[in-house]
Amino acid sequence: MAPKITVVGSINMDLVTLSEKVPKMGETLLGQEFRTIPGGKGANQAVAAAKLGADVRMVGCVGDDVFGTELLDHLKKQGVDVSHVEQVSGSTGTATILVSAGDNSIIVVPAANHSVTPEFVEKMREAIAGSDFLLVQLEIPLESVQKAVSIAKENAVKVILNPAPIQELSEELLQQIDYITPNEHELELLLQGRNQASIQDKIIVTKGSEGLTFFQNNEEVNIPSYRVEVKDTTGAGDSFNGGLAVGLSQGLSLQEACKYGNAVAALSTTKLGAQTGMPTREEVERFIAANG
Ligand code: RIB
Ligand code: NA
Repeated sequence: MAPKITVVGSINMDLVTLSEKVPKMGETLLGQEFRTIPGGKGANQAVAAAKLGADVRMVGCVGDDVFGTELLDHLKKQGVDVSHVEQVSGSTGTATILVSAGDNSIIVVPAANHSVTPEFVEKMREAIAGSDFLLVQLEIPLESVQKAVSIAKENAVKVILNPAPIQELSEELLQQIDYITPNEHELELLLQGRNQASIQDKIIVTKGSEGLTFFQNNEEVNIPSYRVEVKDTTGAGDSFNGGLAVGLSQGLSLQEACKYGNAVAALSTTKLGAQTGMPTREEVERFIAANG
């Protein structure tokens, strides 16, 4: 049976501009391409997992503007259950993204994502409780993340926390989750003033083209990333988290699930955009068969 994965998180429209250079403050440049592409870390992880064949439910909010309607339609088309997504009055979350030489800089305006309050999450308790895995990120209010994680914990649902964008996290939250997936910068902030040993077994550090690292019985395990021709890394982390959740919920070992996530992330970087770049289960299987 397909694993049941619930994502409680953000839904954004990405306003993506491609240019050769990034402008300095006060400078105007001519760019090459502009596109609106569905994004938001929560929605990205939901779509990544759905394309890999999981049974995915999204819990979140969009606005009552054109972006909100478009994003709901898009999620549905990607096979994500949106019956726990509400359209609230006001603007949908946006991310203004500049892509240059495969790298990006991003400004997120959460807007409707602020409406994902602890009360809202409480209303969606059943959805979380009935899942195999809960995936959360930090683009909705932190109290709401805590709420979702507590509900998961009460119901023996496994939790992956992708701590992006990084914020100060409580001991309580860290004790309740099963896995946390910071990049190197996020890890540094996560460990500030904290004893790594207490959470070491939960940490999976993603290092982009350098692969990833986790600890098993105090031993460092390194998994290299796949070499591909990178077009746009936006959403690569989200693709990894979606892949990791699917792999783990299908009973892969942590090592195998990380490798699977790496393949999903690598393939996602070969295309422009977050959700537009995400591979299907078949594409990932073919890629792993060809690249080991
Ligand atoms: O992780 C990538 C995502 O971060 C983008 O899709 C953008 O919406 C921002 O939230
Ligand atoms: Na991409």
